[in-house]
Amino acid sequence: MSEHERFLRTFHASHPGITARALERGGSYARLAARVPGGRVLDLACGDGALLARLPAGSIGLDLSREELGVTPRTVQGRAQALPFSDGAFDVVTCHLGFMLFDDAPRVVAELRRVLVPGGRFVALLGGGPVASGPGAQGEDAFHRFLDALAPHLASPRRFGDPRAKSEAGWRELFAGWSTPVFERCELDLGGTFDEVWTFLGASYELKPEVGAAIRAELERSFPPGVRVPCRVVTWLAEVVRR
Ligand SMILES: C[S@@+](CC[C@H](N)C(=O)[O-])C[C@H]1O[C@@H](n2cnc3c(N)ncnc32)[C@H](O)[C@@H]1O
Repeated sequence: MSEHERFLRTFHASHPGITARALERGGSYARLAARVPGGRVLDLACGDGALLARLPAGSIGLDLSREELGVTPRTVQGRAQALPFSDGAFDVVTCHLGFMLFDDAPRVVAELRRVLVPGGRFVALLGGGPVASGPGAQGEDAFHRFLDALAPHLASPRRFGDPRAKSEAGWRELFAGWSTPVFERCELDLGGTFDEVWTFLGASYELKPEVGAAIRAELERSFPPGVRVPCRVVTWLAEVVRR
């Protein structure tokens, strides 16, 4: 297990459910679930089961973190790089904000190929950072302000996963031999009260506890009290079909 994987396991052990709380207002769980009509489904890196709860009855979840899984039924602790399932066990594998974090993405792709039936689908939502354009994209958006405030505290930002996991060209390379019918931009609006927006920003893997309170206070001061705080996030919805 790499240093990054150990970090993710430790982080999620002490913050179970953090991703679901951060993202639940954005609608992405429902969007991903809507692409899964039925069949035998695995939700990879399922966290506390926020997507799993919206998937067809009988779907199974897997996550690295025992604490994330909690008492969620039909879940298994394991690694995406070594799935504890037999060949052709699933018709669909989903993954909400997990694939771009995985070490050894080619190994994960090989495991997906193995556990999916021919014609089976892998449907994933990938994190893409703050929006780069549009109204309020730069200075006014809380995600941009947060990253600016965080930057002086990041000696060397962690680079999780394989860079190819975040772009369409990279997906075509990683999933060579599969078909890629969908790779679409999917913007989430996480704006709201400052507290609501902080639920998302404060969930950053890069935010060290010792600077969290100061960054939060600095950011909160930068918005007039009572305004709706803008916060938009780019994600990518990607789907590949195993030939
Ligand atoms: C950003 S969270 C997403 C959780 C959940 N899918 C959601 O969106 O609510 C990333 C999850 O990936 C899990 N994870 C990280 N590396 C993993 C690996 N190699 N195999 C399985 N799960 C992994 C973490 O434990 C964590 O629960």
